[in-house]
Amino acid sequence: MSGPIPAFPAGFRWGVSTSAHQIEGAVETRERSVWDAFSDRPGRVRDGSTAAVACDHCRRYREDVALLAGLGVDAYRFSVSWPRVNSPGGLDFYDRLTDELCAAGVRPVPTLFHWDLPLGLDWRQRATADRFAGYVARVADRLGDRVGSWITLNEPAEHTLLGHALGVHAPGERLLFDALPVAHHQLLAHGLAVRALRAAGATGIGIANSHGPTWPASEQPADREAADLYDTLLNRMFADPLLLGRYPDGVGELMPGDVDADLEVIAEPLDFYGVNYYAPARVGAPDGTDQFGAELPFSRREIPGRPVTDSGWPVVPKALTELLTGFRARYGDRLPPIVITENGCAYDGLDDQARIAYLDGHLRALHEALTAGVDVRGYFVWSLLDNFEWAEGYAHRFGLVHVDFTTQRRTPKASYRWFREVLREQR
Ligand code: BGC
Repeated sequence: MSGPIPAFPAGFRWGVSTSAHQIEGAVETRERSVWDAFSDRPGRVRDGSTAAVACDHCRRYREDVALLAGLGVDAYRFSVSWPRVNSPGGLDFYDRLTDELCAAGVRPVPTLFHWDLPLGLDWRQRATADRFAGYVARVADRLGDRVGSWITLNEPAEHTLLGHALGVHAPGERLLFDALPVAHHQLLAHGLAVRALRAAGATGIGIANSHGPTWPASEQPADREAADLYDTLLNRMFADPLLLGRYPDGVGELMPGDVDADLEVIAEPLDFYGVNYYAPARVGAPDGTDQFGAELPFSRREIPGRPVTDSGWPVVPKALTELLTGFRARYGDRLPPIVITENGCAYDGLDDQARIAYLDGHLRALHEALTAGVDVRGYFVWSLLDNFEWAEGYAHRFGLVHVDFTTQRRTPKASYRWFREVLREQR
């Protein structure tokens, strides 16, 4: 950290992100999702917890919006729970939340799918994509008069890999490469949702995809090949269809249905491209030690000499610059303006200097990407609140605001005050 964060362009959008399943609670007022069923299975969530109460946000959303207003963000990225929208009165909650945000001067940025698929639906089925578009049309019809930016899906790559290939997230399927249709159907759902949103008059549409540079563990051909495959599966397989209208070599053949016709839908033009960035990956040939205990054609390796967060992820801010300049080089004029839709880290404690250092470093790295000519229009911290961190339960705390899960008391951390100061300086 040295001196103030450099000035970002006027109009740059600052925000924070959350997701429905991770904060809302109030499970009794909505349908069940694949995550409820998964969390009920012993041993699936590390601390045995569920998201039944989480941050009790459905009841405390006014207090949470006040925290957003106090922070001084322009925008709030939350997700709409499909199972809640399917339930009587479910849309009323998002209606009230949207009103509360607008009244506080914070722009609502809803994500339409953040992993909490209604129980009974299955991304292996193509029909799920059509069902999604129908649900999106209902949400757009209700909130469209007040929402200027929409995000279709959150991280279909993670949802495919962790949820369907490796089985460590809901729905807990361990399909390995047979999970590829899950990726295709989510991408198709995205394209159909873009069309549904456009039909409803929306003009600010994007997706939030997770990306990170992949570094080969060595220059050996076996390591380079393994890293290239990993990069294809985590990065290019999700960005190429959206931005270039095609799958990377060798992938399209493995996808179900009339892939060429679907790619036309998938590549509907976007108004912005959301990037969730946490860390780079160093990848080598299989070494028999993979953390998921599956026979994978690659293995993740440590990045030596780097501090790690409480989730064990290496802290490498400059990899964000590399990622963004690499994106610009690969996609050129096909790349719409980028928004960083998630960036953050897990650390314990109220005086979270390590989080401040992480965010400070990443904002400087982001600024470098802008200086290098990448068109980035916004930055959202993950996350506003400590929350239900999926298979980690409540162990990993990503919030700028501490949540005591016994009393539901919210306490802003040092990083909240630091980010508030950054935002003041940027205005
Ligand atoms: C997800 C969030 C999650 C965060 C930290 C992202 O992959 O979108 O839901 O909490 O990472 O793990």
